[in-house]
Amino acid sequence: MSRPIRALIDLSALEHNLSVVRRHAPRLRVMAVIKANAYGHGLLRAAEALKSADGFAILELDAAIRLRESGYHQTILLIEGFFSTTELALLEQYQLCTVIHHSEQLEMLPAYRRPGGLDVFLKLNTGMNRLGFTSEQYPAALESLKTNSAVGQITLMTHFACADEPSGGREVAGQLQCFNAATAGWNLPRSLANSAAILRYPETHADWVRPGIMLYGASPFSDIAAGELDLCPVMTVSSRIIAVQNLRSGDGIGYGHIFRADRPMRVGIVAGGYADGYPRHAPIGTPVLVDGRRTRILGRVSMDMLHVDLSGIESAGVGSSVILWGKGMPVDEVAQSAGTISYELLCSIAPRIRIET
Ligand SMILES: Cc1ncc(COP(=O)(O)O)c(C=O)c1O
Repeated sequence: MSRPIRALIDLSALEHNLSVVRRHAPRLRVMAVIKANAYGHGLLRAAEALKSADGFAILELDAAIRLRESGYHQTILLIEGFFSTTELALLEQYQLCTVIHHSEQLEMLPAYRRPGGLDVFLKLNTGMNRLGFTSEQYPAALESLKTNSAVGQITLMTHFACADEPSGGREVAGQLQCFNAATAGWNLPRSLANSAAILRYPETHADWVRPGIMLYGASPFSDIAAGELDLCPVMTVSSRIIAVQNLRSGDGIGYGHIFRADRPMRVGIVAGGYADGYPRHAPIGTPVLVDGRRTRILGRVSMDMLHVDLSGIESAGVGSSVILWGKGMPVDEVAQSAGTISYELLCSIAPRIRIET
C-alpha cells in the first residue's frame, strides 16, 4: 500500500459552486479565477469542470497557453498583465487578454502587431493600492488605448480591498464611488467583484464577475461558513492513522514535547505533515476528523506526520481514516485555527500528494 495521504477533488462540487455564482449574479459573465493551479486544485482539471464559465482569469503565462492549447475558447485574462514586449507575441499567438495596470505596459503595446486583436482590462486603483492607475492617470490611459489600433475590447476594472471584512461596507462603497466617478461617461464593460463582493455587494456586479475562492467551496468571510452560503468543498485531504501511541501521564509527544499528557491517553500518528502542505504552525487543538469523529491535533506538526487525540474514539486505530480538511471538516475552520486563510491551505497542497477525482 502506498502512503495513504491523498486529495480528492470533487468536480461536481466545482460545477455546483459555479451555479451558486450564477444564482447570485444572473445573466452576468463569469470569469473563473484559476490562477495558482486553480488554487491548488489542478489547472486543467478545474477548467474542465468550469468549462461553462465565460472566461478564465489566470496569472501565469505558461498556464494560460496550456489552457488555450487544451481547447478552451473563452476569454483568458492575465490578471497581472504582461511583463515584457516579448510576451506580447505570445498574447497575440494565443489570443490572450491582458490587464493593463501601469504606464510601462502602455509603452510596450506597439510591439503588439495584430490590429484590433488585443482585448484589455484597464485597471483602476480605487484604494487597494496594489495594482492600477490612479483616478488622475486613468482618463489618459483609457484615451491612449482607445486610439491604439492594436487594442480591441476594453473592459474597465478594479479590485476590492475589504469586501471580505465583516465591516468592509464603507470601504467597498468608497471604492465603488471612486470607480464610478473615474469611469463615468464611458460606455464600456466593467468588472469589479471577487467572491466576497459577489456574495455581499450586488451593487458591484457590473458585467463580469471574478469569483475565486467560492468556486473551491470555501467562504471568503471569517464570520459566515461556506455551508451557509451553499458552497460545497471541492478538495478533501484525507489520510490514515499509521501508528498508535499509548501515553502515560507526563509523557510528551513529537518534536519539542510541546504537548504532554496529563493522564493516560491514546494518540494516533497520521501520515501527513508540513511537507504535504499541512500548516506547521497549526496549534494543539486544531480540528480534525478521525473515523468521522471530530477531534484535535496534538503536539507539533512534523514534516511527514502529525498526532491526533484518540480520547473517546475507542474504535480508532491503525488504518482509521483521517480527514485533514474538506468534506466534514471545513478548510476555513482549519485555516482559522492555524491563523491563516483557506486560500493558503488550498494553494499549499504539495506535489507529492496523490490527487484523485
Ligand atoms: C484581480 C482579482 N480578481 C479576483 C480574484 C478572486 O478573489 P477571490 O478568490 O477572493 O474570489 C482575485 C484573487 O486574488 C484577484 O486577484
